[in-house]
Amino acid sequence: MKRTIRDLKNIKGERILLRCDFNVPLDNWGDILDDTRIVAAIPTIQYLQKQGAKLIVCSHLGRPKGYDKFLSLFPVAVVLMKYFPNKVKFCNKTIGDEVKTAIKNMKNGEILVLENLRFHAGEEKNDPAFVKELASLADFYVDDAFGVAHRKHASNYGVALKLPNAIGFLIEKEIQVFNKAFEKPAHPFVAIFGGAKVADKLNLINNVMDKADTIIIGGGMAYTFLKAQGENIGDSIMSADQIENAKKILFEAQNKGIKILLPIDHVCLTENERVVRTSKIGNGMTALDIGNNTIRMFAQEIKNAKQIVWNGPLGKYEDDRFKKGTMKIARAVAKSGAYTIVGGGDSVSAINECGVADKINHLSTGGGASLKLMEGKVLPGVEVIDTL
Ligand code: 3PG
Repeated sequence: MKRTIRDLKNIKGERILLRCDFNVPLDNWGDILDDTRIVAAIPTIQYLQKQGAKLIVCSHLGRPKGYDKFLSLFPVAVVLMKYFPNKVKFCNKTIGDEVKTAIKNMKNGEILVLENLRFHAGEEKNDPAFVKELASLADFYVDDAFGVAHRKHASNYGVALKLPNAIGFLIEKEIQVFNKAFEKPAHPFVAIFGGAKVADKLNLINNVMDKADTIIIGGGMAYTFLKAQGENIGDSIMSADQIENAKKILFEAQNKGIKILLPIDHVCLTENERVVRTSKIGNGMTALDIGNNTIRMFAQEIKNAKQIVWNGPLGKYEDDRFKKGTMKIARAVAKSGAYTIVGGGDSVSAINECGVADKINHLSTGGGASLKLMEGKVLPGVEVIDTL
């Protein structure tokens, strides 16, 4: 069992470096579009703050190459200020003397938000010099950045080796939820996978195959499977190098008696940019969403499920013409009455857009991290934390 913040005793006045994943979506003005990840970190911040610790909060935001004023953590600090009035300060540096001075001036229970970790190349390289600088800021290290736990970076891996450490409530909950769902699934267990890249999800499908009763495959990745079955997919996205793997999965599922459901009709874009609904994809057509019959077939399976795990959109969700399938599945999942876990940016956005977030048992804050967990892989950011 990993050490959690409950196991950190006598931390009043101690400096705690808290790694969160505040990699939130921003609009063109740099305003935060969805603060789910910030809100998800509040219980950990609140707990440590109430213990009287001095909290030094750090995160990455986006994938900057060096300093980028549009990817400052300042707007995140502003959100935290609403939750912790008069307790939050922002430092426009991540490491160095200015940060050290700001920390010296902190009172117990105060929160200092540091600037974007990824403004420093050393972060993603897990560079020892950057690790040393970060570690020098604090007495303890707490990791609550589930979304980035599949990475091995300075702030979520290197620094954990240098300081007494623990995980926060968010990581604890995410791990518990996924472990329970995959170790003791409720049946019928329906897994729904979408998204464009089939290669990213083949290991996942292999791992889920031993646990799920039905695997629903939609989105761009479905077309590699349909091609493997010999169907004409027109110009739809597919990975030629994954066709053999897709065939193996379909064969194995049949042998094991696991149902794999693929789209049976589609919403396509034609060469002259017309949107058509069809059960047969013609040459020159690109399928970008599931059709009504597919929605009905998937929804029926979802209705009978006792446990559902969903990751990835069922079509080109970001384009209004092709978002219906994903939205309908979001509603069906919410209505199912099953134990439901939804992960991945677009699937979670669809749930939020439909206004059914409160009907989902667990909305994961991790896209890549939750995929790795479901593949049965170890997450470096969690693995590195001491066990009790
Ligand atoms: C995410 O949004 O998946 C995490 O914050 C990790 O971000 P990254 O893929 O840029 O490392």
